[in-house]
Amino acid sequence: MIKTKDIIDEFDSRIRKVSNDVSFPLDDKTKKYINDSLEMLRLSQIEEEAEKYNLRPGMGLSAIQLGITKRWFVIVYEVEEGKFENYVVINPKIISESEEKIYVEEGEGCLSINRPIEGIVPRSARIRVEYYDIDGNKQTMRFREELAIVFQHEYDHLNGILFYDHIDKKNPFKNADKYRAI
Ligand code: NI
Repeated sequence: MIKTKDIIDEFDSRIRKVSNDVSFPLDDKTKKYINDSLEMLRLSQIEEEAEKYNLRPGMGLSAIQLGITKRWFVIVYEVEEGKFENYVVINPKIISESEEKIYVEEGEGCLSINRPIEGIVPRSARIRVEYYDIDGNKQTMRFREELAIVFQHEYDHLNGILFYDHIDKKNPFKNADKYRAI
């Protein structure tokens, strides 16, 4: 199982690395990392499990956060109480993005950033993406709202970008009226 101490933080220079494409079929080690990451994220969203394993709640994790410079990430999305959807995203491409921008009102979080950071991170409200799943099958998907934000956040990790890179340094709440808060 992946523990909090296995996740590198923003002060580890590897977090800024641009990751490399993954080749198929996946090796067993990669599959294990992916499945362990999904399990960790699921547990992190269940209060008593999160407490038991000392996990901060998270919806997404990229390989680089485990120090692995490979272009994959996972998302665990709670569709309804106790019901989770898993996404394994490998070699993703964002094909198109809506003009409309949204942001998380209470600010974005990241399992690699262990301090509160305020400010607006503008994200596309809707995106169309292509990626490969764990079996190497190509997927074309549309994501909107919260899932679109998580996807863009994780996608950034593959290029060494952290959410606060998008926050205006002088005025963190600049353009608050231009974008829609969710
Ligand atoms: Ni993150």
